[in-house]
Amino acid sequence: MRRPLIAANWKMNKTTAEARAFCEALLPRLDGAAGGAEAAICPPYLALPLVAGLCEGSGVGACAQNMHYEESGAYTGEVSAAMLLDAGASGVVLGHSERRQYFGETDEALSRKLPVALAAGLVPILCVGESEGERERGETDQVLRRQLDAALARVDGAALADVVIAYEPIWAIGTGRTATAEQANDACGFIRALVAARDGGAAERIRIQYGGSVKPGNAAELLGQSDIDGALVGGASLDPDDFAAIVAAA
Ligand code: PGA
Repeated sequence: MRRPLIAANWKMNKTTAEARAFCEALLPRLDGAAGGAEAAICPPYLALPLVAGLCEGSGVGACAQNMHYEESGAYTGEVSAAMLLDAGASGVVLGHSERRQYFGETDEALSRKLPVALAAGLVPILCVGESEGERERGETDQVLRRQLDAALARVDGAALADVVIAYEPIWAIGTGRTATAEQANDACGFIRALVAARDGGAAERIRIQYGGSVKPGNAAELLGQSDIDGALVGGASLDPDDFAAIVAAA
């Protein structure tokens, strides 16, 4: 019932020429292979119009990696929801752990970004996840609850169905250390229960991705779990063959 979403988070990788080469390699590989899954590419801002244009009509979406909550104004270096729409974006990654860790992203700012993205018709991919220390101390559920309560505070219960949540344990991002399928499914199930406490219908429909060292070799097992509805893929999404294989696994 929930259509899996496989999103390629390129982070700060690929020039426009490289982005073009990737799309030209990827799209023929996805033809027919995607089955019921949906794919999206999240390039750096500068490649967004190009990727959106190349993917038009293919069913592959183009998403940004961040967004400001204000419409316009004196916010040097920032990009608004309207600008993302203008660039052809269909969604936006919000609250990635790298933004939280290196660029001071806060739960308070995220609580403003979420409703702005939804109102603009952009699909927000909200990232949450615990650090290694938090997992070792048994604080995973507590961290997920705190991050979700804060970021989704200004989103109506029913509108939660239009959000995508990416569960990304920080210790699994870019480390090659994937969460076990059981750990990932437990956390995604816990997240769904948190959504259910606000709106039962939305909890059935909301898509919850796993992210953190997803590769062609582990994708099928992770994506086969009952509460995992897709993947947010970093490193392996830079290669069109690997990304196509992960989409096919969904
Ligand atoms: P990774 O990154 O697949 O390279 O671990 C995932 C992410 O940060 O979204």
